[in-house]
Amino acid sequence: MFITFEGIDGVGKSTQIDAVERWLDKKGKKFIRSFEPGGTELGQEIRHLLLHRKGDVAPRSEALLYAADRAHHVATKIKPALDKGLVVLGDRYFDSSVAYQGAARELDLHEVRDISLWAVDNLLPDLTVLLDLDAEQAMQRRNQTGEGPDRLEKEKVDFFERAREAYLTLAKNEPARFLVLDASESIAQISEKLISELEKRFD
Ligand code: ADP
Ligand code: TYD
Repeated sequence: MFITFEGIDGVGKSTQIDAVERWLDKKGKKFIRSFEPGGTELGQEIRHLLLHRKGDVAPRSEALLYAADRAHHVATKIKPALDKGLVVLGDRYFDSSVAYQGAARELDLHEVRDISLWAVDNLLPDLTVLLDLDAEQAMQRRNQTGEGPDRLEKEKVDFFERAREAYLTLAKNEPARFLVLDASESIAQISEKLISELEKRFD
């Protein structure tokens, strides 16, 4: 079972993955948790280039760097874990590229999706949890974390609004893969809904 978590920066993905980890531990299920960009050693270097290096990154270069990170991540970490029968929890996956590089950066959505799927040899998640929140509210949550903004977080609110809308369209087009949750609810309300959906799918 490969479960990915999506949504714009600050919606609460890490917080909900924490809850799923506790639930999986209680059930005695073996799992790994990982993230993009940067879930591998090579990926950490790519993450640095994408988020912390000074200077511009051309949009197509940005899309390819995310895809390169993802290709290595899948080949060396995600696929081997799935092959061993582990549950894999992924904090972001290729839908992030479609939403951010495709819609927010205004590249062609289909091209970005195709590049990403080629990178991962067409490995699709079994379930994608989309946490949906207004971009202003997500920005406020982000500001509480005390970390300074990285290169993408310096983008204006309309960048994140475009990403949010794209995520909702993706979810509408693939209702069987996506579970959309209202991220404006409390942490406990969201995790209760999420876990009850997972209970259904795990049995
Ligand atoms: P993400 O991983 O999507 O960037 P985080 O899980 O790091 O988001 O959450 C960002 C901030 O918002 C954290 O300070 C977290 O405690 C807070 N937060 C997460 N979920 C909620 C929620 N449902 N309501 C209010 N605050 C939340
Ligand atoms: P992340 O560390 O998940 O940020 P956060 O915890 O704040 O959600 O992701 C780093 C940034 O990279 C984030 O702004 C989203 C962006 N991103 C893309 O633009 N495309 C992608 O394919 C991925 C995986 C992330």
